[in-house]
Amino acid sequence: MNFENKINHNSNIVAVIGHPIKHSFSPLMHNISFDILQLDYLYLSFDVPSESLKDALKGMIALGIKGFNVTIPHKEKIVDFLNDVSEEASVIGAVNTVVNENGILHGYNTDVAGIVETLLPFKDELAGSEVTIIGAGGAARAALYSLIRHFKIEKINIVNRTEEKAERLKEYFSAKMLYNGIKAYDLTPPDLIDVFNRSKLIINTTSIGMSPEEDDSPTTIPGSFNKDQIIFDVVYNPLETKFLQLAKSQGAVTLNGLRMFVEQGAKAFELWTGHEMPKDKIYKTLQSYLGA
Ligand code: ATR
Repeated sequence: MNFENKINHNSNIVAVIGHPIKHSFSPLMHNISFDILQLDYLYLSFDVPSESLKDALKGMIALGIKGFNVTIPHKEKIVDFLNDVSEEASVIGAVNTVVNENGILHGYNTDVAGIVETLLPFKDELAGSEVTIIGAGGAARAALYSLIRHFKIEKINIVNRTEEKAERLKEYFSAKMLYNGIKAYDLTPPDLIDVFNRSKLIINTTSIGMSPEEDDSPTTIPGSFNKDQIIFDVVYNPLETKFLQLAKSQGAVTLNGLRMFVEQGAKAFELWTGHEMPKDKIYKTLQSYLGA
């Protein structure tokens, strides 16, 4: 990559803030894109612990940072510090992308685009179906919003380690989106295999199985899956988690998190630069980087 032209003058800086942050592939994705399109932008990552979030935002404005991604643990908290948020981000209650317009901070949730684009080829199959979401964090919220708003899903099960959190999510989305098809479960009841098996689509929105914990899986029971299902893991490192391996061995269609990662990034890229990310090139580059 050629950074020579970025050293001596005022490049446009964009960034990601989170804690921890070193696992993020966003700097790689965006900097390769800037390089391909010859855009005078640079993407940096900043490790910002929770207690420094407010100061970090002041710093972003003072330094004229054009925009930034927001990741764990700030996606929900940051909403309080922004000037405005998009309709999607407001309903979801989480922001993953911020645009700094001369000190005015606008919040967006581009995870929705990532989820919708990944599932769009299956829209007809999913209409009228029962679906299960594993997890009750920020990614689960984006998944719930996407399924209710963009797909005609009849029933949605939320399955989570902490059942109260799943219950809270159910109450919130039932009221906020006037949708009464949600049920909450904890991750270990004996009837969970039935819940999984009844589901046309299962989405793992947790980090279970992500590198370096590659041996973990939300379920290790082969009977959880069948050949008529679509199984989507938001994890993209590794590209094929234990969860997806198991689903594939039972004949299910499997989707890893790389398309979602690239699509959410592309949407943020467009918000900051006004340019379209070279998505196919980036997808292939990351795929070979991750060892496909
Ligand atoms: P994100 O914003 O990426 O969704 P998050 O808000 O921290 O991240 O949410 C992570 C989700 O993964 C939570 O639902 C969490 O379960 P709890 O609500 O019980 O904390 C779930 N999760 C993470 N690691 C897990 C593990 N090892 N086993 C089970 N669930 C896990």
